[in-house]
Amino acid sequence: MGLFTRKLKKTPPVERPVPRHIAVIMDGNGRWAKKRGLPRKAGHKVGAETFRTIATYCKDIGVKYFTVYAFSTENWKRPAEEVDALMNLFRTYLKEAAESMAARGVAVRVLGDLSPLPADIRAQIAQVEQIADGLGPDAATASLCINYGGRDEIKNAVRRIAEEVRSGTLSPEDITEETITARLYTAHMPDPDLIIRPSGEVRTSNFLLWQSAYAEYYFT
Ligand code: IPE
Ligand code: IPE
Ligand code: MG
Repeated sequence: MGLFTRKLKKTPPVERPVPRHIAVIMDGNGRWAKKRGLPRKAGHKVGAETFRTIATYCKDIGVKYFTVYAFSTENWKRPAEEVDALMNLFRTYLKEAAESMAARGVAVRVLGDLSPLPADIRAQIAQVEQIADGLGPDAATASLCINYGGRDEIKNAVRRIAEEVRSGTLSPEDITEETITARLYTAHMPDPDLIIRPSGEVRTSNFLLWQSAYAEYYFT
């Protein structure tokens, strides 16, 4: 009975074309947990593990960039208890995940405005970036967006450009789309080809606004 005895191949053939950059709006963690009678934070914990699983899978099938929306600039408005649980998850997870994923050839990076994060988490993120910097050019990049907002990112880029114009290092007529692209958190990576959002919500919630101009969306 071929259907039951056939083993799933671990990785598809390498010749198969794959997207260069896949991004995911990680949503539905709370509902996932609620459905199982668990606290919301249990859903976030499983979400964090799923990040590791999918990022490593992406590397194995040849997807060079994988980006996940983990905490938005709007998520601070959630109940303090949930924000604390998410911060604690970053505390226990980030460095350990970066080390274990580095061993599998995946460089973990963090994108977003990190300034409002607790100092110990920022220190951990600096270590995570150091681990990523130590990996060779063959490594895949898995980015976690923390305190990320697409509008906030564009506002910060505009502010930087305004400062450069004021200081005389940039003239307004030299501002192109590339000038803006180069000042986003994603400056070093190609735009996402595919953006996936699970949970049933059909919106972008302020994710990669500039970079998604030609992305294909998959809502599941
Ligand atoms: C996504 O899951 C994770 C974060 C935004 C931190 P949610 O926490 O939004 O889960 P739902 O959408 O309420 O089920
Ligand atoms: C999107 O999920 C943001 C992240 C995944 C970090 P949310 O649950 O926060 O978004 P809304 O509130 O449904 O738009
Ligand atoms: Mg949600």
